[in-house]
Amino acid sequence: MATKIGIDAGGTLTKIAYFDENLELQLISFLSSDMQAIKYWIETNHSLASICLTGGRAEQLKKYLLSPMDIPYIVEFDATMAGVMYQLKQENIECEKAIIANIGTGTSIHIMKENSHSRLGGTGIGGGTLIGLGQALTGITDYKEMIALSKLGDRSSIDILVSDIYENNKLPINGALTASNFGGVALKKTLNRSYEDHLSGVQGMIGEVVASLCIQAADAHHVENIIYIGSTLENNDLLKNIMESYTILKEKKPFFLEKHGYSGAIGALLESI
Ligand SMILES: Nc1ncnc2c1ncn2[C@@H]1O[C@H](COP(=O)(O)OP(=O)(O)OP(=O)(O)O)[C@@H](O)[C@H]1O
Ligand SMILES: [Mg+2]
Repeated sequence: MATKIGIDAGGTLTKIAYFDENLELQLISFLSSDMQAIKYWIETNHSLASICLTGGRAEQLKKYLLSPMDIPYIVEFDATMAGVMYQLKQENIECEKAIIANIGTGTSIHIMKENSHSRLGGTGIGGGTLIGLGQALTGITDYKEMIALSKLGDRSSIDILVSDIYENNKLPINGALTASNFGGVALKKTLNRSYEDHLSGVQGMIGEVVASLCIQAADAHHVENIIYIGSTLENNDLLKNIMESYTILKEKKPFFLEKHGYSGAIGALLESI
């Protein structure tokens, strides 16, 4: 039974962090839509723990928990930054200045420097796009199945590369860059595109849109490091590879933290101590 737990109630997933009796960090997540399961898990395992909440659905969860005590709330971005700092230290990563992209349901982009942080912007292209557009294209609703199939796909007939357009002309930029995500579906005469190919295309679009926004932010703020977090990266090597290679191609340094989606929950836990 933990004495304190940190909860990040996000748009899609609710992440929970706590230290066990050996002071080892433990993490667990639930669908945010299943508040009954969250309440049951807390009451069964940590009924006496003091809770600290963060995330967009914190207020909804707080109401659902019907706790007799007032549950403290931390602003999501503060909790996320605290969680990122903690993980950087744990993983021995030296990084004082960085762009941080949280690829959650949507994507939020921040800058961290000199121990402070501010939000630079974001995009509605994120993890929700992966499961939503993926479902629209294939009918698949299971996250793990979607990720597994996307890895088997080939997006060469889905996208149009710069080299596809320039063919025999002198290339103005790297020909391997994507000129149009999904443009190939309309413009390339390929008869059979599988679910796998479409899902691979969705991953490509998300990875490239988010990475390119971060790269532009890094250029504008003279920052070299980009830290990518959020549960969309959980067990999703394809997305990581797309973002990593694009970031390196643009001469920036990508970082992925081990506990991708849990920065907010870890931050809430630490702030509550
Ligand atoms: N088991 C799962 N079920 C559904 N989505 C999952 C699962 N595991 C990972 N994901 C991916 O993670 C994304 C959610 O990421 P994350 O938990 O960081 O966001 P969130 O905190 O819920 O949302 P936000 O921060 O935008 O409010 C989903 O959109 C999906 O792409
Ligand atoms: Mg979140």
